[in-house]
Amino acid sequence: MRGAPHRWRYRHVLWLIGGRIHFMMGICALLAFILLLCHTSSLMGWHRHTKKGNNHERFTVLVNTWRRPDLLKKSVQHYSQCPNVHSIRVVWSESREPPSPLLFTALQASVKKASKKLSYPIKLKIDMHQEDNLNTRFQPLDNLATRAIFSVDDDVLVPCNTLGFAFTVWLSAHDSMVGFVPRMHWLHGKESFNQPVYTYGGWWSVWWTGTYSMVLSKCAIFHKKYLDLYTNHMPAKIRDYVTRKRNCEDIAMSFLVANLTKAPPIWVKGKIFEIGSSGISSLSGHSEHRSSCLNAFVDMYGHMPLVSSNFKAMDARSTWIW
Ligand SMILES: *[C@@H]1O[C@H](CO)[C@@H](O)[C@H](O)[C@H]1NC(C)=O
Repeated sequence: MRGAPHRWRYRHVLWLIGGRIHFMMGICALLAFILLLCHTSSLMGWHRHTKKGNNHERFTVLVNTWRRPDLLKKSVQHYSQCPNVHSIRVVWSESREPPSPLLFTALQASVKKASKKLSYPIKLKIDMHQEDNLNTRFQPLDNLATRAIFSVDDDVLVPCNTLGFAFTVWLSAHDSMVGFVPRMHWLHGKESFNQPVYTYGGWWSVWWTGTYSMVLSKCAIFHKKYLDLYTNHMPAKIRDYVTRKRNCEDIAMSFLVANLTKAPPIWVKGKIFEIGSSGISSLSGHSEHRSSCLNAFVDMYGHMPLVSSNFKAMDARSTWIW
């Protein structure tokens, strides 16, 4: 009887060790399973055709900036490190105040640094424009070497892998606008004369309904032909309206593309980072102004060209099971 507590303690210790061994084995099995999962594709002989990246085509980053040298520096530094970037073009809308030599040197230094890791140099060019006009961001550019343009504001950063994925989406639909910031036009009701009235749907309405009909050009990929169409072929009264209201160049571009393709844009899943403090969209009355633009453009087109969609493109590697 006196030995019983000892025996019990002995068994207890054994059980403890046994328990830990089982636990450790469990962990090992789990790790092995994860490793196996990670390497399944190579074990099965499923290798990608190219070593790095999916394709050889590249795109041009078109950065729209306005008196924010710090943001521009960050933006150029970031995008010069993304794969598939051919060149970076900066839309500089104030020719009376050209970029300072200091800024220019800093931008060139980051592009040069990024190019060292590549087999090709990334080109950087600052395009000066006469006036501060929202239409200038869509001015056709000389020596644009790629079909695809990634149009982005200086305060928007898209992670390189997300951007690369969006580019592959664009490659399979190169007449579409492919972007990360979806918006919607909602049929509001009927005015007199049976004219439909539209309201602009911001982020919340898109999130709630999963429906959109535009992606904003502050962060979107599209074909370079749309620059020429916007500047030289779209009715001048639309550009005049944008100039006068200092707003809605992105809605005008969405109308242009939708009218030509008769198709919705493509919303790509992905987190983007807005590093600036505030833009037009944080001013009060923003959504009324945007709704006025919608209705004005519908008037000018004679119909509503925007097509709504519920399609969201996402990376198949990041989805669970299928
Ligand atoms: C819209 O597209 C049609 C062709 O489908 C074209 O005739 C018309 O001029 C376009 N409208 C505008 C305002 O560009």
